Amino acid sequence: MRLPAHWQWFPEARFGMFVHWGPYAAYGRGEQVLFREHLDPRDYERRACAWNPQGYDPARWAETAKNAGMRYAVLTTRHHDGYCLWGSKATDYTSARQAPGRDFVQEYTDAFRTAGLRVGLYYSLADWRIPAYWEGPEYDPQGWTVFCDYIHAQVCELLSDYGPIDIFWFDGAWPHSAGDWRAEELVATIRSLQPGILVNNRLDRAASPTSPAAESAGESRSLGDFSTPEHYITAESGRLWESCQVSTWRLWGYTAGERWRPADVLLDMLVEAAGKGGNLLLNVGPDAEGRLPEEFTLRTEQIGAWMRVHGEAIYGSEAGEVCEFITYGRQTQKANNLYLIIRFWDGQGALTLSGLETAVKRAVLLTTGQEIPFEQAGDCLHLRDLPAEPPTPLFPVIRLECAGPPRPLPWAADRLWSGDPRRMTPWASLRGTGANAWR
Ligand code: GLC
Repeated sequence: MRLPAHWQWFPEARFGMFVHWGPYAAYGRGEQVLFREHLDPRDYERRACAWNPQGYDPARWAETAKNAGMRYAVLTTRHHDGYCLWGSKATDYTSARQAPGRDFVQEYTDAFRTAGLRVGLYYSLADWRIPAYWEGPEYDPQGWTVFCDYIHAQVCELLSDYGPIDIFWFDGAWPHSAGDWRAEELVATIRSLQPGILVNNRLDRAASPTSPAAESAGESRSLGDFSTPEHYITAESGRLWESCQVSTWRLWGYTAGERWRPADVLLDMLVEAAGKGGNLLLNVGPDAEGRLPEEFTLRTEQIGAWMRVHGEAIYGSEAGEVCEFITYGRQTQKANNLYLIIRFWDGQGALTLSGLETAVKRAVLLTTGQEIPFEQAGDCLHLRDLPAEPPTPLFPVIRLECAGPPRPLPWAADRLWSGDPRRMTPWASLRGTGANAWR
């Protein structure tokens, strides 16, 4: 895939932080509490206007992201509840005009840029407070025009007043079409304001952006520079993609007492995304005061320590399902290197990789830097003298330095249960017609 130079940073980065934060954090039951609990919108609004987080320090968020090895972030500037984290001139339902008296988006963009991270803004088209949003252009054409103008004006503010923005991340187009949102016009405006920006693919209703079937049926294809599989890690060919995932169980906004996925599960999602050629946008919901939950920082610190040693297997890597390796883990590749990212360590001292056609010149256990002796004969590469003890609590990585870009043998180009089954007949015929052969 040929990319314009100003988008190169995105596949290079591979790992970003998604932040869901707004007045809903005060409820501690996710970002959709207003709708899910059918709250009285007047009560919600009163509480939102009084919400005044004292612990919001985006420099600390940025530091956490950086320590995790993340290269960018995306902040919910406005979620479906309609509350704005910046000083919008189009409404007074904002952190700047209500209790905090602060422009949280300004503070975020400043802090993240200072930390050397790329900056993305999430913006929900849906605004649950507004009857015209529910009615839509068919039943309330006038109201819809006013509402849609409001949306366009806010997007312009966000892209005019906060310096260079790297990603604009729409959400909540449902149930309206790209045409209803005047999305093409909106994207043209976005590009005129920020020529280098990446815009995601959620400007049209999709059956569900959370379903891989919807993604592959192209339902969320219209517009957008990258696709956004949610809760799934599905590759899209011919376009950049980024899987967004929660680090907890299910919800994006802060949830008191929520369960957390362990560090190895989170890291595996990053490795899976990289192994399939995409990015991982890992979510956190800061609490009502604006602090990142400790469970998140503890886990991302572990991932960051791993990234400092093994990052070359992730940053700027390409999809790496070169040959059979599913038993042990995943693969990424970069130039002439194939990276074996090993999920568990069996302590056997040896490991075999089958199906690699390209000659291996050198094998290095990236985790310790030690060179690994090997033999490559026939269809197999045998690695020897591996340490008995796991060299890292997370995933050890072996870098295979090959004579050219790593390529599979013809039989190993497809995984089991895919490809032409007849490619395996010669292999099955090897057993000949022994005593147990029926033919
Ligand atoms: C969904 C949800 C939302 C969340 C988002 C993240 O569309 O409505 O709460 O912000 O996906 O991808």
